Amino acid sequence: MTDPVLARSDDDLIVEPGEELPADDVRAVEEVLVLDFGGQYSQLIARRIRECGVFAELLPSTTPVEKIRERKPKALVLSGGPASVYEPGAPPFPTQLLDLDIPMLGICYGMQAMMLALGGRVESAESGEFGRTELTLTEGGGRLLGELPEEQTCWMSHRDAVFEAPDGFTPLASSPSSPVAAAEMPDRGLYGIQFHPEVVHTPYGTEILTRFLRDVAGCVEQWSPQSVIAEQVEKIQAQVGEGRVICGLSGGVDSSVAAMLVHKAVGDRLTCVFVDHGLMRLNEAEQVVETFSQFEIPLVHVEAEERFLAKLAGKDDPEEKRKIIGTEFIRVFEDEAAKLDDVSFLVQGTLYSDVIESGGSDHAATIKSHHNVGGLPEEMEMELVEPLRMLFKDEVRAVAAELGLPERFVWRQPFPGPGLAIRVVGGEVTRERLEIVREADAILQEEIRAAGLYRELWQSFCVLPVVRSVGVQGDERSYAHPIVIRAVTSDDAMTADWARLPYDLLERVSNRIINEVRGVNRVTLDLTSKPPGTIEWE
Ligand code: XMP
Repeated sequence: MTDPVLARSDDDLIVEPGEELPADDVRAVEEVLVLDFGGQYSQLIARRIRECGVFAELLPSTTPVEKIRERKPKALVLSGGPASVYEPGAPPFPTQLLDLDIPMLGICYGMQAMMLALGGRVESAESGEFGRTELTLTEGGGRLLGELPEEQTCWMSHRDAVFEAPDGFTPLASSPSSPVAAAEMPDRGLYGIQFHPEVVHTPYGTEILTRFLRDVAGCVEQWSPQSVIAEQVEKIQAQVGEGRVICGLSGGVDSSVAAMLVHKAVGDRLTCVFVDHGLMRLNEAEQVVETFSQFEIPLVHVEAEERFLAKLAGKDDPEEKRKIIGTEFIRVFEDEAAKLDDVSFLVQGTLYSDVIESGGSDHAATIKSHHNVGGLPEEMEMELVEPLRMLFKDEVRAVAAELGLPERFVWRQPFPGPGLAIRVVGGEVTRERLEIVREADAILQEEIRAAGLYRELWQSFCVLPVVRSVGVQGDERSYAHPIVIRAVTSDDAMTADWARLPYDLLERVSNRIINEVRGVNRVTLDLTSKPPGTIEWE
């Protein structure tokens, strides 16, 4: 068993590299499997299929065919990938898949691998195609592309191309550097497209995916927030039986949604524990308490600010601060858990992207220790309940909205587990400094929301470097702290760019922070992308 993390924020990784999905994740209802050949859009394919109302899951292209057969998928989609089909070590097309008699759509590399395996001609083209490309239909577009505009744009990203489709296939389209940009053999349920239907720059992409899913593969079930809720409630009930469950709340959308699903399933046999370490944003703790009381979910609110601040006294090393907070968090949580009788299940807000990512590289360097902070001690043996394990972040938000969580929760930007403690940098974390960074942050959030930019930003926050500079305020010399504004755009926090906030917004924020927050006489803006910076300052 891995160390589960209690202090769930939106970004914790939970599952060990290479861990397999438990058998009960195999769904009894219809699903599409996306076989991943390593393409940069593979996750996006699964998300798009789900947006078409069909459940999709990503599996490595090396998944044994027997395993795929057992899952009885309604269709298979072969993703793109970075390799050339001729490269030594390029992932091969698993030809036994053809024996399964399941409709199959190859995308980019997936198409090339399929065509090559069936006797088509794939070669390096004179020039590759990257980005927007003109697509021209032939043969009226066949079953897959029929009745779509004869000329359309699509998104390409390839160097090799299919020059001749295998016997039995009908070529359906071409582009300047792809003589066969789409082909099909409807009798055998085989389809291939060189372009990426999952990318928004392919205007008919969703239409093409929908056709494949509904017309070719006959998918009918609707995967939706409502169906997720119904399915998860049933699953949780089956797992937990008459048992008692505990859930650590972080204030973020993931742990809140996980708790609400479990509450729907087992009612008051769930107890939520909200460890308030005093490092939250303005009014956030109150909002958690209020929301959970409104939904009548049993909640233990542990006000532990003193305890955390006492432990942090005199510390300024980022890693040490994280470890202190993580350890203290577990202690408080354990104390509370010990007060409850017979709790044998622990809820966690693990997301599907965590599950997929953890299966990836185990060679990544530890930049910050945040994903290891807060492990649950071994002796606390509880079975994990992970109702979000199959969901992408945007699906969690959709489920949150469906469950009636307030809009502020649904769209909350990620917030680190150690909270504002890692935003007071280069000096001791004191109550006074936390107060400064909290007030400044509240002003920034308010103005960003008012400007309608909150959802566009991955994160926006203030940092307080513990230095002082000279200023002049009201004819008097001041000697006070600066506040740094940090705002970034990102898709997944792995990389990020600094947000180009409008000058008038920056001006308002700067004026308000200096006027309203005591102890601040200067506001600066962080213009660092990630890499080389990280999003947080510590
Ligand atoms: P960095 O700063 O490494 O952050 O670019 C990437 C994302 O992770 C969040 N973050 C944390 N989350 N505990 C957490 O739960 C932490 O200690 C922690 N440090 C950073 C950060 O806010 C960003 O979204």
